[in-house]
Amino acid sequence: MRTRTQVGIVGAGPAGLLLSHLLHRAGIESIVLENRSREYVEHRVRAGVLEQAPVDLLKSAGVGARLAREGLVHRGIELRFGGRGHRIDFPSLTGGRCITVYGQQEVVVDLIGARLAAGGQVLFEVADVSIDGIETSAPRIRYTSGSEGHEIVCDVIAGCDGFHGICRQALPDHQRHVFERTYPFAWLGILARAAPSHEELIYAYHERGFALFSMRSPEITRLYLQVAPDEELASWPDERIWEELHTRLETDDGWRLNEGPVLEKGITPMRSYVCEKMQHGRLFLAGDAAHIVPPTGAKGMNLAVADVHVLAQALTELLKSGRRDLADAYSQTCLKRVWRAEHFSWWMTSMLHRFPDDDGFQQRLQRSQLDYTVSSPAAATSLAENYVGLPFE
Ligand code: FAD
Ligand code: DHB
Repeated sequence: MRTRTQVGIVGAGPAGLLLSHLLHRAGIESIVLENRSREYVEHRVRAGVLEQAPVDLLKSAGVGARLAREGLVHRGIELRFGGRGHRIDFPSLTGGRCITVYGQQEVVVDLIGARLAAGGQVLFEVADVSIDGIETSAPRIRYTSGSEGHEIVCDVIAGCDGFHGICRQALPDHQRHVFERTYPFAWLGILARAAPSHEELIYAYHERGFALFSMRSPEITRLYLQVAPDEELASWPDERIWEELHTRLETDDGWRLNEGPVLEKGITPMRSYVCEKMQHGRLFLAGDAAHIVPPTGAKGMNLAVADVHVLAQALTELLKSGRRDLADAYSQTCLKRVWRAEHFSWWMTSMLHRFPDDDGFQQRLQRSQLDYTVSSPAAATSLAENYVGLPFE
């Protein structure tokens, strides 16, 4: 079976779905191919923090109604160390900017709903996806659905298939310069049916390792613990997780973390990764397909949104008027923001985690940096500006 579309999109995560939606609004057709089920992608628990610019974009693109109703607007975060909290206030340090706590899977639900309501094609549970012809003017995506083979002939392919996808591998070796760091720890994350015991996120620095307090709604708390990179979930029964969270989040004034039934548990490895370039011929990579940040600082989903904001404009110009300037500048435009987020995520990770081989030197640097960040308006402003994110150009 052979079909045709203007933009073939691999991956129905935030990047692929939002790209399809933005292109539709610009009058460009696309088909999204996803190897998982709709049920699976709508329930996959991942990131939860949206910067100001992605929130504004989702709202202005007509997919922000539920986000506006249910998203939790946060005007600051807490850095917790030495037994007490230190608040970083975003609006006063950034000219009024804030963040919104709204689960990534809710963004995905909203986007799938919008695409399907507009008659868009999002094909779930496809298999054996492959791409070729990216150096020609008619690149192709092949896949199977049921037992049938299909081919889509496209003008452009968007690789939005995440870090373990197939699209990045299609860049020729000489075009693929990779920069990478791994970290000697991972995050164990849980979702618990428990009312959040604090109004804002808490990033806790503790001698037993980093902990993060977050939330999803007035009934659901999201929590993370630094663990060893090769940690097995089986070694972390719920009681051990709660005990460790209480220890690492403890304060001198008797603050208590609310407990509740654990609804979901998972371990996330920590990595920094950038593929330069993000485009070759008629293939454009966006989101995790091109870059990964460690989660400290919550930049992953925000970068995916920022990439497709740039890509939708570039493809609209290319496919409507044949102008190539934005498409040719795509990598360069995105990589500027990507490297800022890479630096911020690496910096937050380095400041807040316990490093296994540290002889005390790094701990002293961390404590000095934390003290400086919460006592110097200049240092606090730098953290706040990066956390709420740069405006979109
Ligand atoms: P994805 O959301 O990964 O979407 C890619 C899609 O492509 C997926 O639906 C996948 O199933 C599909 N796909 C893959 N291969 C194929 C194929 N061959 N054919 C068809 N479809 C394919 N970021 C934060 O900021 N904070 C966090 O707490 C956080 N936690 C995370 C936890 C985990 C376990 C992971 C993996 C990531 C986490 N991230 C977090 C990062 C954030 O979720 C990502 O940056 C974000 O999902 C990027 O969106 P994306 O659309 O680029 O990629
Ligand atoms: C969440 C995840 C993050 O990586 C982060 O820095 C803050 C919050 C979250 O899942 O809520």
